[in-house]
Amino acid sequence: MKQINVTNLQDLDLTPWNNQHLIGIDDLSVEEITLLHDLALNYHHKLQSKTDITDILSGKIILTLFFENSTRTRTSFDMAAKRLGAEVIHWDASTSSLKKGESFRDTITTLNAMAPDAIIIRHSEFGAPSFVAGLVDCPVLNAGDSWNEHPTQALLDSLTIRNHFGHLDGLNIAIIGDIAHSRVAASNMRLLTKMGAMVRIIAPDILIPEKLPAPNIAKFTNLKDGLDNADVIITIRPQKERMESALIQDEQYFDQYGLTKQRVSWTNKENTIVLDPGPFLRNVQISDDLADSDPRFLYHDQILFGVAVRMAALDLLIHHGKKKT
Ligand code: NCD
Repeated sequence: MKQINVTNLQDLDLTPWNNQHLIGIDDLSVEEITLLHDLALNYHHKLQSKTDITDILSGKIILTLFFENSTRTRTSFDMAAKRLGAEVIHWDASTSSLKKGESFRDTITTLNAMAPDAIIIRHSEFGAPSFVAGLVDCPVLNAGDSWNEHPTQALLDSLTIRNHFGHLDGLNIAIIGDIAHSRVAASNMRLLTKMGAMVRIIAPDILIPEKLPAPNIAKFTNLKDGLDNADVIITIRPQKERMESALIQDEQYFDQYGLTKQRVSWTNKENTIVLDPGPFLRNVQISDDLADSDPRFLYHDQILFGVAVRMAALDLLIHHGKKKT
């Protein structure tokens, strides 16, 4: 594994950062993605070495609005905010006045009137985070909207890959699974192609959308053909909560698309790595032997990069943020 150099915080040039919000990958330039990665690597290094981290967000209050279930993403944002000294308030959709019939817009403008320093939102409606960004006076971070975007997941996946290989350009990256319903696949296709990687998807026809969110993506329905020459494999769970009826049975899925230790060798590459955004389904997407005892499966590395990426995003948006004009 080739670890990339960590640039010292004081030597990082923050001027390329030009976003008030983090809504989607299309809003980010190559320079902004690289800067966010470099800053995140700095935080990652501090988290790993247990070095004290400055409380740059001390006195700030961040609101999380999760309209869909989440364990790792919400906890990861929470850890990131608290590591930087901020306080976090979790607003609970299930006990809110939305249940009494208040409109979504009124809920958001009411919360905005309390003057939070940032809002982190996950929603089942496509485009909800950008709608919220248009209503509030603070940075908005998209923690996942429908099957549209999950930008911090793609930023952490790509940082895990960049840290392993030293670069993203020129790598062959295979994304296996439910491409049609996955915001993680959508954000990764956008980000990885933008950074010069060659992306292919592997899925049954029924889980491939008509239109892909990025250009030059190769499509495979056969796992063995699709894995050939892949440096990186990203597995994506069948997103049953977004399907009207089960489009594929678990046993059939594992048989045709499940990844095992042995099937990783179908890449014919020595240094292949495997990632998954979690939660992953054992013996549907990934076999126990690959999940539990294979150093090529970097799932736990992804988790710490996730905290670091979210620290970098909060730092750039709140601490160094551009003010609304
Ligand atoms: C993903 C999500 O919610 O989109 N999970 C996550 O944020 N780590 C992926 C998934 O649920 O399959």
